[in-house]
Amino acid sequence: MEIFTIFPSWLLTTTLVFFMFCMFLYTLRSNKSSITTPKLPPNPPKLPIIGNLHKLIGKSRHEALWQLSKEYGPVMLFYIGSKPYLIISSPAMAKQVLKTQDHIFCSRPLSKGAKRLTYNYLDIGFSPQSDHRREMRKILVSEFLGPKRARLFNHVLVSEIETMVRLIGSHPPNVAVNLNKLFLATVKGVVCKVAFGNNYRQQPIKGPSWEVLVYEALEMLGGWLGDSFPWAGRFIDYVSGWNDKLETCFTNLDAYIESIIDDHKSQIAEVTDEEKDFVHALLELSSEDNTSGHRLTKEDVKALIMDVLTAGVDTTLVTLVWVMSEIARSVRVKQKLQTEIRNHTGRTPKVDVLDIAKMTYLKMVVKETLRLHAPAPLLIPHECMSHCQIGGYDVLPGTSALINAWGIGRDPSTWGENAAEFYPERFEKFEVDFEMVPFGGGRRSCPAKNMAPATVEFVIANLLYWFDWEVPDGVKSEDLNMQEEGILVLRKKVPLRLVPTKYNWDD
Ligand code: HEM
Repeated sequence: MEIFTIFPSWLLTTTLVFFMFCMFLYTLRSNKSSITTPKLPPNPPKLPIIGNLHKLIGKSRHEALWQLSKEYGPVMLFYIGSKPYLIISSPAMAKQVLKTQDHIFCSRPLSKGAKRLTYNYLDIGFSPQSDHRREMRKILVSEFLGPKRARLFNHVLVSEIETMVRLIGSHPPNVAVNLNKLFLATVKGVVCKVAFGNNYRQQPIKGPSWEVLVYEALEMLGGWLGDSFPWAGRFIDYVSGWNDKLETCFTNLDAYIESIIDDHKSQIAEVTDEEKDFVHALLELSSEDNTSGHRLTKEDVKALIMDVLTAGVDTTLVTLVWVMSEIARSVRVKQKLQTEIRNHTGRTPKVDVLDIAKMTYLKMVVKETLRLHAPAPLLIPHECMSHCQIGGYDVLPGTSALINAWGIGRDPSTWGENAAEFYPERFEKFEVDFEMVPFGGGRRSCPAKNMAPATVEFVIANLLYWFDWEVPDGVKSEDLNMQEEGILVLRKKVPLRLVPTKYNWDD
């Protein structure tokens, strides 16, 4: 029987053409893949299902990854479950990711905790790259961190430091003070007063204390198993209670933020321009009268407040604790710094913001602390948006990049044999480019990278001007406990307690 009698000729021709087209596509694809088989970065041997997760067991992430980078190089691939992470461990490679190819790496990976706590990625720090995020960052810079708010910021900072100095001065002599607690009160006071005004709510209306709530939120933002193990992870999140913890944390924080917004809405008609704070400015930007700029939704306003709470307080607090710990550990640095601060303070006697500009050693001390104790040891993960090459290796879209700021800051091949030593004088000769990256870099760098160190310098100058500091009896300065803990933010594990003695007080 003629084949054409069973299949009409048009069908046969179409089938033939389709078949040839499929063959063409197949050949193209196999040729392409043989030509462009990606040259991926070296990767430690993986285990089924968990990938390289076992390499992190019992160790801190940044230290474990730093050790592995010595074996696998400054550009390494690391799998948690099936999710690939690009681990960057040298200044040159950090520069590639954060500067040269920043346009490719300026996104953030999605994560369940971030999604919930940022009102579905409406914030700045954890949302993927978008025009919306760019607008939000501009608003934070102009309404909170920029010159518009600088006068209020300085005024609040001076008054909070005066309160702190008075409080320490009223402490019984020869008794150690808990500097973690004092710094928390000061930094929280400054950030919240500038953002929410003088009558901000010191405590959330439900749930745990303010500091526990913010601490928990940072933990949730640090990512969790469900992000790397789509199926098993979700199950573990559910049975371990993580989902409930996230939901409770979100509900409590949201209620706190909502109460701040309600307070502001009720006063907005009465406050003068002088009295307006960051939240007033955000409410104006969300009002229907705002026809000129980016009109914010209520959720946008909440996401910005969330950013200030999570990004603004803890990082500054841990930096202050590390600076004072390093100073307390080194009698040499303490004496040299104290001499500089006391020599440069005017005859009022009061440390003036303008005096700080002359205190070059103080700046080196803060820089040296950020080198050794990057508060965000792996920054916030960046995400590769399109195929590119780093250090001669292919990086595929969807790969998360972790930049090991902690390791890069301590690398003897950059910082010499005394890399582990606290030696601020190294900055007399050292011009920093990407040899230390405590504030990240590029489009996702910390927008407070100038303001935050200035705040730290001012607090430390006051503490060392008004008091002499000693470690409590029974502990040698050099033996002060410097253990670290934390994932997203690296804190000192044991709170810092030092004994103050008044200097130059009238009473
Ligand atoms: C010593 C204090 C601080 C340190 C060490 C620090 C460090 C960092 C780091 C490492 C990042 C991530 C950069 C990256 O992924 O490349 C970051 C991002 C950010 N920081 Fe800070 N920070 C500090 C203070 C502050 C303050 C006071 C604010 C004020 C609200 C702030 C707001 C932010 C925001 C909004 C982001 C996200 C930027 C983006 O993704 O576009 N930070 N910070």
